[in-house]
Amino acid sequence: MDMLVVEGGRPLRGTVTVSGSKNAALPILAATLAVEGPVHLEGVPDLVDVHTLTTLLSALGATATTRTPGRWDVRVGDESPCLADYELVRRMRAGVCVLGPLLARRGRACVSLPGGCNIGHRPIDLHLKGLRALGARIRIDRGYVFAEADRLTGAEIDLTGPQGSTVTGTANVLVAACLARGTTTLHGAAREPEIVDLGHFLNAAGARIRGLGTSRLVIEGVAELHGVSYRIIPDRIEAATLLVAAAITQGELRIGNTRREHLSAVLQTLHEIGVAVESDGIDGLHVAAAQELRSTEITASPYPGVPTDVQAQFTALLSLATGRSVVTDTVFPDRFLHIPELCRMGAHIRREPGRGLITGVRQLSGACVMASDLRASAALLLAALAAKGESVIRRIYHLDRGYERLENKLNAVGAVIRRVNDAPEHLPDSLRVLGTMPPLTEDDAPPIPPPKFLAREDAAAKESAP
Ligand code: EPZ
Repeated sequence: MDMLVVEGGRPLRGTVTVSGSKNAALPILAATLAVEGPVHLEGVPDLVDVHTLTTLLSALGATATTRTPGRWDVRVGDESPCLADYELVRRMRAGVCVLGPLLARRGRACVSLPGGCNIGHRPIDLHLKGLRALGARIRIDRGYVFAEADRLTGAEIDLTGPQGSTVTGTANVLVAACLARGTTTLHGAAREPEIVDLGHFLNAAGARIRGLGTSRLVIEGVAELHGVSYRIIPDRIEAATLLVAAAITQGELRIGNTRREHLSAVLQTLHEIGVAVESDGIDGLHVAAAQELRSTEITASPYPGVPTDVQAQFTALLSLATGRSVVTDTVFPDRFLHIPELCRMGAHIRREPGRGLITGVRQLSGACVMASDLRASAALLLAALAAKGESVIRRIYHLDRGYERLENKLNAVGAVIRRVNDAPEHLPDSLRVLGTMPPLTEDDAPPIPPPKFLAREDAAAKESAP
C-alpha cells in the first residue's frame, strides 16, 4: 500500500490549476444511464472514483471510453442489466446515484446499499422516499435496494432531512423526475453547485428543470433525454484545499480554473482568519500568506454555507491560528477522525459531540499519521506541509479517490512529497524513534490545562449577564 513522505516547513509558491469537480462528474456520469444517445463529457477529473463509476456503467450495459485526459464518451447499448453490485458500490457512495436513472429509464434496479464511511451515518432513506413518491415500488433485502416502476409519475416531494438537504438524494430524484409523466415539485432540494451542474447537463439533454440553485425545483417530465456534449464545472473543494495549502504554509499561490461564486463561504472564512484572496483574471484566485492566522468559529452546513468537505482542512489551518477556535459540522457531526491524527502532530484540539475545540499552537511537528477518509487525508497532508520536520501519511488510497495527483500539483509549487510503498525501510530516519530519549527541558513542563471554551454566543451572554 502507498504512503506519502512529506518534508514540512516549505512555503508553497507558484501557479496551480484545479481539476474538474468529482461531485459533479459522478452524478452526471450516473445520469448517462437515463440518456438515449452518445454523451461526450469534458473536464472529468482522473480519479479512482471516476474509474470505479465508469466500471459500474460498463456493468450496466454502457460503453464508457476515455481517449484523452478529462474527456469521456459514454453510450448505453444494452439496457437489460440492472444490478449495481456491492463489490463496486461499497467502494464509492456515489454508486447509489445509478438508482434513479435505472428506475427512470429501465423501470427496474437492484442497487447495493452504499458502503459505510468514516465520516458518519449515511442513510439513503430520503432517496427512497423521493423515488417512492414518484411511484416506485421499493424493498431493501440482503443489503440491496430492489426497485421497480412501470412509469414514474410526477409528484410534490419534500426531501428535507434531519441535517438539511441531501446532495446525492436530490441527484437521484431529479434524474428520475426528468422522465416521469407530468410535473414534479422538489422541495428541500440541495443547492450545491454540483447539483446545478447536473441540472444543466440534464437540460442540455432535453430535460425541463426550473429553479436550479434554489431549494425548490420544478421538473416537467419528458419522454426521452437525448445525447449531449457537456463540460464539468471546476472542483470547488479542491480549490478550497489549495487555498488552505497556501495559507497553512505561509506561501503564495495563483490558482487557475476556479469559480469564485462557488467559494463565497470559503473565502469569507479565510478572510476572518486573516488570509487575503483576490481574483486573478477570469477564473483565477491569488492567495498570499497572512501575517498571523486569527482564530474564528466555523459551522459547516449545506450550500451556500461552509462545505463540510472543507471542514477538516480548516481544522488543520486553525490548529496554527492564534487563540481559540471552534469548528462545528452540522452535516456530518461525526466527521472528526482527523482530530487525533492532527494531535499526533502537536495540535491542541478537544473533540466534543459535533465539534472540535482548537487552541492554536505556534508550530506543528512531523509525525506518522493515518488517513481515515478523503478530506481527512487532505487535511493531514496540509498539516504535514506546514509541520517542522518529516511526516508520513498512510492509507492515502483515500486521497486518490478524490484528488487528481494532488502531490504532483503541490510538488510543482515547492512542496517535497514522495509517494512510496509503506515498507518499514521507507520510514524516514527522523521518524524512527529508537527509544533514545531527547533531552527534556523546562518547555516540557506540566501539561497544558484543558481550555475552557465559550462559544461566541455563550461569551456574549456571560458579558451581558448582570
Ligand atoms: C455528498 O454526499 C458528497 N458526495 C459528499 O462529499 C458531501 O460531504 C455531502 O454530499 C454533503 O455535502 C458526493 O456528492 C459524491 P448528503 P451525500 O446526502 O450526498 C443525511 C467528499 O468528500 N442524509 O447530502 O452522501 C446524511 O446522513 C464527499 O467528496 C439522510 O439523513 O451526502 C448527512 O447527515 C464526502 N438521509 C446529510 O443528510 C438520506 O437519505 C447530508 O448527506 C441522505 C442523507
